[in-house]
Amino acid sequence: MRHLLAIEGMHPPHIAALLDLAESYVLLNRSGQTPRDRLRGRTLINLFFEDSTRTRTSFELAGKRLGADVINMTVATSSVNKGETLLDTAATLNAMNCDLLVVRHGASGAPALLAQKVDAGVINAGDGTHEHPTQALLDALTIRRHRGTLENLTVAICGDVLHSRVARSNIHLLMAMGARVRVVGPKTLMPGAVERLGAAVFHDMAAGLADADVVMMLRLQQERMARGLVPSAREYFRFYGLDAAKLAAARPGALVMHPGPMNRGVEIDSAIADHPQQSVIREQVEMGVAVRMAVLDVLSRGVGNA
Ligand code: NCD
Repeated sequence: MRHLLAIEGMHPPHIAALLDLAESYVLLNRSGQTPRDRLRGRTLINLFFEDSTRTRTSFELAGKRLGADVINMTVATSSVNKGETLLDTAATLNAMNCDLLVVRHGASGAPALLAQKVDAGVINAGDGTHEHPTQALLDALTIRRHRGTLENLTVAICGDVLHSRVARSNIHLLMAMGARVRVVGPKTLMPGAVERLGAAVFHDMAAGLADADVVMMLRLQQERMARGLVPSAREYFRFYGLDAAKLAAARPGALVMHPGPMNRGVEIDSAIADHPQQSVIREQVEMGVAVRMAVLDVLSRGVGNA
């Protein structure tokens, strides 16, 4: 494995092996005994053309816990020509001999393009509305730790599916691992061909959440909406915001997830986001570090001279 650009096309045993390795990193992280020599002498560059809190910091932490030299580059995108900038950036980074490049970009396919131009291993940390593979891996690890398996679970992915790379990566991963996937949201926020990915489509929360084992909420991504696709945040919450009444349709004790950042009171009620038994949102963040350590570990074996 040289790059991690998408979940689509990954083989189930490969996904399972990454999750197993991540699981071992959860235990090492908790005991404070991370192998700091694993990436010693390696350089990891975080190249973020879009905002991020948890993804960037968790890649930074993951790299440092494994002993890599980590550099963060945050690039303002507003007035630059994306194509040119990307290729110029690729040439610059290549000249620096970096080993691993973590890329977030507003354009779908940008990390794949970079991967063709640099010698480093490239990790997609979210590209446009395409994929966010490490998010799907950390979500899968979180579910697996609570339910033991992903097989035959019913997972309802709810909200702004149209703009969500998190949803797309999760659909691919969950389907590959034998889960049943539903997508739930208003017609205006549902991609046209989503059924073709194998997910069942619902426009009503009660029906979509019925007997679900996992309820995964998505942020309403207003920054990606060229025009108003929802009447108002208040109305959106009434129909699609996860509150106790809507959650009651799911299986008792169903897991509540959100990739963050959350819009409390828009797609999720605060009491549900902080639900002491059912919300695993904070645990998702912890799993994010472990999953990224596993990915860096595996990719570092495929690049450089070690
Ligand atoms: C997501 C992203 O950026 O794709 N956040 C994340 O990485 N945890 C989801 C979002 O922005 O809503």
